[in-house]
Amino acid sequence: MGKLLTALGLLLVLHIASSNRLVCHMTNWAQYRPSSAKFTVDNIDPFLCTHVVYALSTINSFNQIIPIEWNDEQQFSRLNNLKNVNPALKTLLSVGGTVNGLSPFIAVVARPEGRAAFIRSAISYLRTHNFDGLNLAWEYPGNNGSPQQDKERFTLLVTELSKAFEDDAKENRKTQLLLSANVASFLPTIDRAYEVNKIADSLDFINVMTYDYHGHWEAATGHNSPLYRSPVDSGSHIHHNINSSISHWLALGAPAEKLLLGFPTYGRTYRLTTGATGLGAPSNGPADAGPYTRTAGFWSYYEICDFASSATAEWIPEQEVPYATYGSSWVGFDNQRSYSSKVQFMTANNLGGAHVWTLDMDDFGGYFCSAGPYPLINHLRISMGFGPKPTTTPAPTTTRDPITEFCRGRPNGLYVNEADSNTYFQCFQGNTYLHRCQPNLIFWDSCKCCNWP
Ligand SMILES: *[C@@H]1O[C@H](CO)[C@@H](O)[C@H](O)[C@H]1NC(C)=O
Repeated sequence: MGKLLTALGLLLVLHIASSNRLVCHMTNWAQYRPSSAKFTVDNIDPFLCTHVVYALSTINSFNQIIPIEWNDEQQFSRLNNLKNVNPALKTLLSVGGTVNGLSPFIAVVARPEGRAAFIRSAISYLRTHNFDGLNLAWEYPGNNGSPQQDKERFTLLVTELSKAFEDDAKENRKTQLLLSANVASFLPTIDRAYEVNKIADSLDFINVMTYDYHGHWEAATGHNSPLYRSPVDSGSHIHHNINSSISHWLALGAPAEKLLLGFPTYGRTYRLTTGATGLGAPSNGPADAGPYTRTAGFWSYYEICDFASSATAEWIPEQEVPYATYGSSWVGFDNQRSYSSKVQFMTANNLGGAHVWTLDMDDFGGYFCSAGPYPLINHLRISMGFGPKPTTTPAPTTTRDPITEFCRGRPNGLYVNEADSNTYFQCFQGNTYLHRCQPNLIFWDSCKCCNWP
């Protein structure tokens, strides 16, 4: 019996160890949300996720990576400074989106020289800004441009990038840059976009975007991110669920340990048109935009917390996800319970972990849901077996400031140390960390960086 228990314990440990990535995306447009919803890299808990992906950067007409926001490069340095607090944290820069409605990758991949220029630019840009890797956000190869060719050209891009990252690491004796991609979850899109068996080897992990399965563009309510099909699904809709997407990726030969299950921190809304309020109820467009995200069609988790205080919440047993309804508004969302169901699914399928879209839509400050900061992602972290965060233990490369009171009551961020200009303080959730600039450099408040006096 004892032996059996030990064996079971070992199995459990191995199981948890295989789901070892918790990759969290943040968006550089969340800084424009009002008041307590404003999110910058200073709101990131450096111990919450194993990887943080900064979304989004783009590509210019010379096939080079360029920032989008005026303050991206300042944010990069603050983000990558979090590695002084948690040296195990990895950061990736996400590149993609659309330019005039089209993915900039269509032009990049079209010619070998375009890919080579992009790859050179990526390595140099990531190294300059101290990122650990690149995340490809092309939705989706084959959607526009030249469908059949773009599928093959995406394979070329991924394999050439991976090879170049390997060479760069060898030549410069550095840790190899990571390569990941955000990929489709609808079956026809997957088939059109990817040569799965050819790209999987070159990617360190694959973020399957297991959300946006249903939304206000449909004429009846459906859930944003259901685990399984519902009794009201028919036709192609029977595949609009996590189980169908992941089964398809696995059937096409993706190694389970590279697939990351997508966890949304938002829900999708509908405007009901009859007295019916259940799944499949008639609807016409989205509910009102949320007061913070200000875009009709979805609500962040913290906006849903506000809504849920007056709404009626229901659980969809077949899909293991909740929805809430009040008046003519309907939202299908995720909560701690549905996150737990999805972690069970992830573990049962030996997947490589989770990715979250996004940090900034969870109740990151703990102001809305009365459940502390990051109620969803913290729950995910714990459910995945990551144990408590060492927020009170200073990281090995930092020394705790002797004036530990410095950060009490101060917002997260970097501050001048009046007593020694070669050092500076980092405040994170009331804790004080002291960092040192390179010799001869001093900390400048104007750039929040170390520079010559
Ligand atoms: C999950 O997907 C697989 C493959 O499509 C299917 O055989 C299985 O019945 C699905 N499970 C549920 C509970 O729907």
